Amino acid sequence: MKLTRQALYFLPLFSTIGPTCAQNTTNTSATEWPILGTGQEGVVQWDHYSLIVNGKRVFLFGGEMHPWRLPVPEMWEDVLQKMKAAGLNSISFYSHWGYHAPTIDTLDFGTGGHNLTRLYELACDIGIFVTARPGPYINAETSAGGFPLWLTTGAYSPLRDNDSRYTAAWTPYQDAVARITHPFQVTQNGTALLYQIENEFTGQWRSVSAKTPNNAAIAYMKLLEANARSNGIDIPLTHNSPTTSGKSWSKDYDTVSAGGDVDIYGLDTVSPNQPSYLPEFQGGAVNPWDGPPGGCAEKSNQDFVNFYYRYNIAQKVTAMSLYMVYGGTNWGWLAVPFVPTSYDYTAPISEDRSIGAKYYEIKNLALFTRIAEDLRKADRIGASTSYSTNAAISATELRNPDTNAGFYVTIHSTTTSSTNESFRLKVRTSLGNYTIPQRNGSIVLNGHQSKIIVTDFAFGNETLIYSTAEVLTYAVFNGRPTLVLWVPTGESGEFYIEHAKQGSIAACNGCSNIIFCTSGNGLIVTFQQQEGMSVLQFDKGVRVLLLDRSAAYTFFVPGLTSDPLVPVDQTAFVQGPYLVRSAEVSSSTITLCGDSNQTSTIEVFAAKELDQISWNGNILHTNKTSYGSLKADISGPISFTAPKLGPWKVHDSLPERWSNYSDSDPAWVNANKTSTASSSKTATLPYLYIDEYGFHTGIHLWRGYFNGAATGVYLNVQGGIAHGWSAYLNGGLISSFFGSGSSATGNQTLSFANATLNPTGSNVLLVIQDNSGHDESASGARNVRGILNATLIGKSSTFSTWKVAGTAGGSSSTFLDPVRTIYNEGGLTAERLGWHLPGFDDSAWASDSPSQGFTGAGVKFYRTTVQLDAPDGHDVSLSFKFLPIGAVTFRALLYVNGYQYARFYPYITSVSTFPVPPGVLDYGGENLVAIALWAQTNEGATVDLDMNVNYVTQSSLNVKFDGTYLRPGWDARRLDYA
Ligand SMILES: *[C@@H]1O[C@H](CO)[C@@H](O)[C@H](O)[C@H]1NC(C)=O
Ligand SMILES: *[C@@H]1O[C@H](CO)[C@@H](O)[C@H](O)[C@H]1NC(C)=O
Ligand SMILES: *[C@@H]1O[C@H](CO)[C@@H](O)[C@H](O)[C@H]1NC(C)=O
Repeated sequence: MKLTRQALYFLPLFSTIGPTCAQNTTNTSATEWPILGTGQEGVVQWDHYSLIVNGKRVFLFGGEMHPWRLPVPEMWEDVLQKMKAAGLNSISFYSHWGYHAPTIDTLDFGTGGHNLTRLYELACDIGIFVTARPGPYINAETSAGGFPLWLTTGAYSPLRDNDSRYTAAWTPYQDAVARITHPFQVTQNGTALLYQIENEFTGQWRSVSAKTPNNAAIAYMKLLEANARSNGIDIPLTHNSPTTSGKSWSKDYDTVSAGGDVDIYGLDTVSPNQPSYLPEFQGGAVNPWDGPPGGCAEKSNQDFVNFYYRYNIAQKVTAMSLYMVYGGTNWGWLAVPFVPTSYDYTAPISEDRSIGAKYYEIKNLALFTRIAEDLRKADRIGASTSYSTNAAISATELRNPDTNAGFYVTIHSTTTSSTNESFRLKVRTSLGNYTIPQRNGSIVLNGHQSKIIVTDFAFGNETLIYSTAEVLTYAVFNGRPTLVLWVPTGESGEFYIEHAKQGSIAACNGCSNIIFCTSGNGLIVTFQQQEGMSVLQFDKGVRVLLLDRSAAYTFFVPGLTSDPLVPVDQTAFVQGPYLVRSAEVSSSTITLCGDSNQTSTIEVFAAKELDQISWNGNILHTNKTSYGSLKADISGPISFTAPKLGPWKVHDSLPERWSNYSDSDPAWVNANKTSTASSSKTATLPYLYIDEYGFHTGIHLWRGYFNGAATGVYLNVQGGIAHGWSAYLNGGLISSFFGSGSSATGNQTLSFANATLNPTGSNVLLVIQDNSGHDESASGARNVRGILNATLIGKSSTFSTWKVAGTAGGSSSTFLDPVRTIYNEGGLTAERLGWHLPGFDDSAWASDSPSQGFTGAGVKFYRTTVQLDAPDGHDVSLSFKFLPIGAVTFRALLYVNGYQYARFYPYITSVSTFPVPPGVLDYGGENLVAIALWAQTNEGATVDLDMNVNYVTQSSLNVKFDGTYLRPGWDARRLDYA
């Protein structure tokens, strides 16, 4: 993602963030805008209008999720099913080089959440296109923008160019992603459709206006493109530009043949020979440390979705991917410093996997784009208020040049306006020009909303001349179409079906004022719809369903096959439940899988011969309605309460502060470097840059020795925004830096006046610092982490020796936890010795609890186990909540079965609730819950921790799968790292 923290956080309400387009694109011609393609003849093509897959134009509507932000492959299925159920047809993902190559000699695509093959397999099974975005640089609000942390020392600089050191570093990783992707490409009958090269890299020109090529950047793009092609990637190569000004990597902009161009350029504006492709349209916003919990929820809510995604369609966009559709969690130390543990992103699927109005609003549009074939080849005819009878409302007219189908995207003419406006719309149809609704009533735009009004809309073999209600979807059952229209609750609509002769009301749930009116060429129907779904029947077996917004929200259109395009004659309609994940038809039964959050009646429309509904494995008592649908009741979830945590065990986790502590190998490394590959050379010597000693994440411990008297020490510690540190002399706390949402470094002059100093012998200064991640960008990633300045005061000599401890095994091949990776743990005694892991024996520890807490500075480690037995046949979402008691000058790390799933910094943020997914938690067994509690003052630290239920649904999702492989336990190698 490209936007800065400020841009995201302070996104003004309904600012114009959408693309801008040429206003006039009616003079199309095959020679001007030819159909282009790559790879196997005809499998993936594109032109100015849209992508074309196996000869069919596609409206690509998808969203981003990051497998590494949900390290449980079994839960990827949940996200992909929810995306598919929303009508979305593609998933885009960044893979994270550093996560797959945590050490220089590791390349892991097998353990735990690393297995991308499983993501591709799921995408094939569920039927959803994939855009792979391996980087190598991804930004993504992740530590070092996805670069492996061993790359950040300066030894491979400057990065993101054709330097041979950098090329040699990324090649094995890019090879691996391409080879894993290869068999899943659409050209191989898989679903991988696009392959992005680099990320938001605007480096093609030294001068954009003079078209002066930037040769190193061009050579780099060519190397990456050649890498993909040589590994068999034959789907289109894409790139996403963060701004309109860079004009990089598009063949249309490269008028001087500088090279390095991709097949399909994505931005957020039009490039003439390529479809308008928005690789990262706003799905929500990131929440920085000092931002509100859940990001800017009210600024990117369901109204935002309703308005802006339609607005993109008005701009002729036929491919857009939402960043993010599911954000997930920055567990461990995956985040970039300015972002906390949560990456909820206010996404339509929340961090705790729940769905709500925003998700359903996306569904209402995506189901439409999935079936509106004529929209995929549409010219923009005009945009003005002259289409409407109310100057406060403007419309954009899109028209398919082959079929003459029209799409009028209506919005407030002042896009920031949120008034409630009524109007009639002037449309052009095959039967003539109308001002609609013709009979009575009006079209309403209530607040920040938009409606797409169709004309000459084809459904099956029928034609909807116009409808003032929006089309939700349609399907063809047994050769006859059922059209679904929706209006906001209580609004009216008017539609005109060509050639229809008679209509009748088969079911009225919330309908009123339905009038069928014969017109010269068919029937004009007017209606009003309150909460519910009404069913109208017309001659020739044509059916129209009328839904209000609430009924439309729980209306699902599962595909009966895994075809990502979901052909209209291979679907069913299911109205009523919270979620429908899948549907299958065999003989007379339709088998549905989904979720129910309350007792309700579901209604199914499918092929005529069906007479039975199976829901989550149970045959339901099914009734057939007079108009051929099936109805049955489903039950809601049973209740589930999370168990209380405790009793707890405790142990000191900061023995390093004492002068008699032995800092020996292999936990401790001599920090004695007097030269550095880093460009930052102004530090005091030796260089105390942790990455140069093989430690990259979490908490680091520095021990500096000096002999004799000194009056104090000046320290400047750099750990990134939100980092903190404490310093101890010979076991006693002398000072702490508490951190903030804005300071990347913390410097202080510390006095030894009140410390216990050994004026004639050896003294040891312990600095415990955390490193909140590495900054983004090629140069930012190289910002050092560690101590920039350590100067004794009142003494001519300096420290005699420094030692440093970090993650057990460092970045060497002895690294101990490949599944959870080095992002998961730092260098606390508790972490090095594996106290955070299941299976460590704490029977000799004292009993105490974090809610009793402790006084005095230091780090204590608390452990407890909790047995879970989630109800079978249910999805249960759980989270942990911290409640500080007393002083907030502490930092708490939460470990769940060994995964560091929360960093709670109450001095900096009020975000205190942390969802933890199934798989990290064992829903049918014992779970280890542990807290590292770091008190930064002598007041100590006290904190309550509770486990809460976010939601329970009766569900087909199996959350009690065997996830043992995700939770490897303690082993004796840890004992070496005392
Ligand atoms: C749109 O294109 C037509 C045909 O080329 C041209 O006559 C007209 O002036 C153009 N309108 C605008 C607004 O550019
Ligand atoms: C990834 O998972 C698939 C099963 O889905 C398995 O066949 C494959 O071996 C795994 N890959 C690696 C590298 O372990
Ligand atoms: C894809 O499927 C088609 C139709 O089943 C088959 O003819 C073709 O060989 C397959 N291609 C690959 C690469 O598997």
